[in-house]
Amino acid sequence: MKELLVFGGAGQVGRAITAVAGSDWRISSPSSTTVNLRDPDAAGRHILDVRPHAIINAAAYTRVDDAESEREGAFAVNAAAPGAMARAAAELGVPFVHVSTDYVFDGTGTRPYRTDAPTNPLNVYGESKRAGEIAVMAANPNAAIVRTAWVHAGWGVNFVATAVRLLTSGKSMQVVDDQVGTPTHAVNLAAALLHLLGRSAVGGMYHFTDAGVASWYDVACCVHETLHNAGRLPAGVAVTPVDSAAYPRPARRPQISILETHTSRRAVGWLQPHWREGVATSVRDLLNA
Ligand SMILES: NC(=O)c1ccc[n+]([C@@H]2O[C@H](COP(=O)([O-])OP(=O)(O)OC[C@H]3O[C@@H](n4cnc5c(N)ncnc54)[C@H](OP(=O)(O)O)[C@@H]3O)[C@@H](O)[C@H]2O)c1
Repeated sequence: MKELLVFGGAGQVGRAITAVAGSDWRISSPSSTTVNLRDPDAAGRHILDVRPHAIINAAAYTRVDDAESEREGAFAVNAAAPGAMARAAAELGVPFVHVSTDYVFDGTGTRPYRTDAPTNPLNVYGESKRAGEIAVMAANPNAAIVRTAWVHAGWGVNFVATAVRLLTSGKSMQVVDDQVGTPTHAVNLAAALLHLLGRSAVGGMYHFTDAGVASWYDVACCVHETLHNAGRLPAGVAVTPVDSAAYPRPARRPQISILETHTSRRAVGWLQPHWREGVATSVRDLLNA
């Protein structure tokens, strides 16, 4: 059996990779205390010690607002460490897949972002993730970079989990309807990453999200409807739309960050389910947890 080394194995996407990897892969995943990516060289050393058959980097500094005041930490984890991983993978000659984000774009585009669209991050998290993409490409031209967006699952910290917690406890929600993107179930993304690893050559830039587009308000409405259908919505609990100006946050967010996924989908022969299916799955998993 081949060994797949996953950084960030305890995160939303990391856990999903373990859930869907099946019997083709034996997964090893160092905790963030065993290999702390704030020391970027630790990642490279770990790869050369373990000598895996393939590597996925699903680890990241993902606290978007905190990154504004912790630039150094965000750049160490999101830029320098992936660069070191890509270098070590090149040295071993094994496939390396790095996960990135729609936040490398500024969200002012009028059509879905292609993989080669100009980047222009609005916040430190996005800047650090873009720096990570550049470091990975420079260190290893055979690496694959997979941008995704609005990740959620029945575990971890995400908007769907927050909405389920609030709505089931009887709290109505006001949710912004002027930020648009594509909610993506971590399991669907994980399946796409593993599918990519199954190909003979993985290198390049890819966009994988679930299908369709939504505002955060749409996502909350989908959670509301799923809870209602499951008989788990307290009476009188509502979701109403609000302007993002009503919720100022430390980090600016892209307003329309839709990734063009058709090209990646065609290139690797992969079909994503609609985002509503993924959100309903997360809600049901959260209710059953
Ligand atoms: N979440 C989203 O909406 C979203 C959207 C677009 C792209 N992405 C990208 O998707 C990937 C996976 O995101 P996710 O949602 O699964 O993230 P997540 O749930 O926040 O998990 C992040 C993982 O990174 C690890 N990590 C953080 N700091 C570390 C450090 N200093 N050393 C070692 N490990 C560290 C965490 O370990 P600990 O738990 O031990 O700290 C955790 O396992 C990331 O590349 C992210 O940028 C996410």
